[in-house]
Amino acid sequence: MSSTNRSNSRKLHIADYYVTPIHTIVEFLNEFIKHEPNAFKGKVLDPCAGGDSKHLMSYPEALKQIGVRNNNIITMDIREDSLAFTKGDYLNYKCDGIYQTIITNPPFNIARDIIDKALIDVKDNGFVIMLLRLNYFGGKLREDLWKSHMPKYAFVHNKRLSFTDNGKTDSIEYMHCVWQKGYYPEFCQLKVI
Ligand SMILES: C[S@@+](CC[C@H](N)C(=O)[O-])C[C@H]1O[C@@H](n2cnc3c(N)ncnc32)[C@H](O)[C@@H]1O
Repeated sequence: MSSTNRSNSRKLHIADYYVTPIHTIVEFLNEFIKHEPNAFKGKVLDPCAGGDSKHLMSYPEALKQIGVRNNNIITMDIREDSLAFTKGDYLNYKCDGIYQTIITNPPFNIARDIIDKALIDVKDNGFVIMLLRLNYFGGKLREDLWKSHMPKYAFVHNKRLSFTDNGKTDSIEYMHCVWQKGYYPEFCQLKVI
């Protein structure tokens, strides 16, 4: 590996950049909108939108494929080489409360911070949707999250996901976890898709 490639890999690793398969997101969205048909009627923010010279931004592309208008999709990412319209740190981004839905595959190491901020930034009754490992439900660190902010839905992906161009999968199960701001039930509805 050249030193340039090595330094690029390091930057990608630090940013925790992985490409979510678009067809998996479309599969989820098609199921989700059966239950929440108004979720994408307003502005939608992808705060960690990804994309690069070889890959589209997965969530914005999947949203377009299900008919969400391009000018309703707002994108940001911390990487300069991302395809996002705004380059910056979402955790320092001042939102103006216009988002009906905030959706992304967050970097694992700051997923909790992203969830907490998205739940503040989204409109009342709006949706926060995050791709998370299924075992995110475990762990002492997140016990308070499930007590105070139980999501409305967990759409569990039955097929293993591949985040690499060679199609290799690992042994981790994923879900799209969906919160609705202001509605934190005692139980979460789980659907395997
Ligand atoms: C796991 S990747 C997901 C990329 C894309 N959403 C997808 O699903 O293909 C996480 C993305 O978050 C970006 N990122 C990392 N820290 C960030 C931050 N503080 N603010 C905004 N974006 C960030 C990374 O550059 C990377 O593109």
